[in-house]
Amino acid sequence: MENITKSYGEVKALVGADFAATRGEIHALLGENGAGKSTLVRILSRVVRQDKGSISLDGVPVHTKSPLGAIKAGIGTVFQELSLVPVFTVAENVFFGRGPQNIFGTMPSRILNEKTAALLASYGVSGIDPKTEVSRLTVSEQQVVEIVKVLAREPQVLVLDEPTAGLAEDRVEWLLRLMRQLAEQQKIVIFISHRMNEVKNVADKVTVFRNGTHVGVRAMGETTSDELVSLMLGREVTNYFPKKDSHVGNEVILETQGLGITGKMTDVNLKLHRGEVLGVGGLVGQGQTPLFLSLFGIMKAQGNILVSGTRAMIRNPRSSISSGIALIPEDKGNQGLVMSMAIRENITLPVLQSLRSNGLVSLRKERKVVADLMQVLKIKAESMEARVGTLSGGNQQKVVIAKLLSAHPSIFLMFDPTRGVDVGTKTEIFHLIRDLARDGNGILFYSTTTDELVHVCDRVLVMYDGRITEELGGGRLTKENIIRASLGEAVN
Ligand SMILES: Nc1ncnc2c1ncn2[C@@H]1O[C@H](COP(=O)(O)OP(=O)(O)O)[C@@H](O)[C@H]1O
Ligand SMILES: [Mg+2]
Repeated sequence: MENITKSYGEVKALVGADFAATRGEIHALLGENGAGKSTLVRILSRVVRQDKGSISLDGVPVHTKSPLGAIKAGIGTVFQELSLVPVFTVAENVFFGRGPQNIFGTMPSRILNEKTAALLASYGVSGIDPKTEVSRLTVSEQQVVEIVKVLAREPQVLVLDEPTAGLAEDRVEWLLRLMRQLAEQQKIVIFISHRMNEVKNVADKVTVFRNGTHVGVRAMGETTSDELVSLMLGREVTNYFPKKDSHVGNEVILETQGLGITGKMTDVNLKLHRGEVLGVGGLVGQGQTPLFLSLFGIMKAQGNILVSGTRAMIRNPRSSISSGIALIPEDKGNQGLVMSMAIRENITLPVLQSLRSNGLVSLRKERKVVADLMQVLKIKAESMEARVGTLSGGNQQKVVIAKLLSAHPSIFLMFDPTRGVDVGTKTEIFHLIRDLARDGNGILFYSTTTDELVHVCDRVLVMYDGRITEELGGGRLTKENIIRASLGEAVN
């Protein structure tokens, strides 16, 4: 791809960008959110047309103007947004999700299901039934189906735009193995991910994007994470983690007593103080999800939840919100953002009530709230009227946070909020968490990244097999101790 340029009105998504990959290689694209990675991918897949620049594959210019033409040319893309039809089964999606094939209804579903089962098996996918309706699958399983659907067309170039963000741990391993196999078969794999360890493990080469253009190409063996991060940000990295001056007060603003859900979580007792960032660690699936979801009224648990010393009746998210609790959940696709609506409208949804004066929303007041939040959170967009669907993932995540802040909660449940966001947004989220604590809020912060727990939290609870098995604070709050406790080992 040579000299690719693409503007959306005033926004220059790509400016003279070059990208080249060789058969047999896994080539990573790195860059902050908004750097232009997805736009490059959309142009390669012919979903979007470039203003300028050329594309060639195996030395032959790619002239097709349609996504289907790109698929026929051997370019298979797993887009950042899922494209499955929720009411279709896995098999129906794999075979009919896209393109004008018209065998729907003519092939008996039994054969369709058999074909899909064989396909899933051939790619080493287990635990997904072709007959299941996609809406009943987890996000991780849906992502696997999406990937298999693209693989089914046996692409020469497989493009994966942040595919691991929604994948469970074992599925990530599956995907990385698969990528290796494809590279060994002399295919090209283009891989976009914000997880440096994955990129380092799997990629042969990396092209770094910044502000709509390539700023460096490196062989993975000849670079370092520091160099890559510096290239991405265009500056040396300092203050990646904020200063951790303690603001922990005496008042317990959130307490659980014997919280439990049979088979998922047992006897969880925790106290979150005003001004405290309380971390929750442990391996994935040790009860962290039930804990967060029951605090937010999505899962029903036995035991008590106390807010500022008073027992709170949390039956659903609404009652949780009115108790002053806000949840930033992990499922990126399901955070209640309305992609077709403006940033302004998304942010003010929960506060619309309080913004109404005499039955009318004062637009002036609404704009003020939104402008403030956009400034505090450094949301990058053309204006507050920009549709959320046009924003990069990191900026969408900030809109989610802004939306919650607008309801003025004092207890924040942050469930792996930095998962899948770029380093620039990550550091902004860490600073935001510490700022929220300094302002007297309490934050319960689950992270799958041990470093984040060590550097952002005042105290960390480690969960193992559904229980809190360790509490680490002060000098005991170290990476080694968190890992040891996560594996169920004793910590001194
Ligand atoms: N459909 C669109 N309309 C307007 N602006 C867009 C659209 N798609 C992308 N952009 C803008 O182009 C820039 C690059 O976005 P993108 O390619 O999604 O970045 P990345 O994938 O690296 O996060 C961003 O500023 C983004 O807001
Ligand atoms: Mg993107």
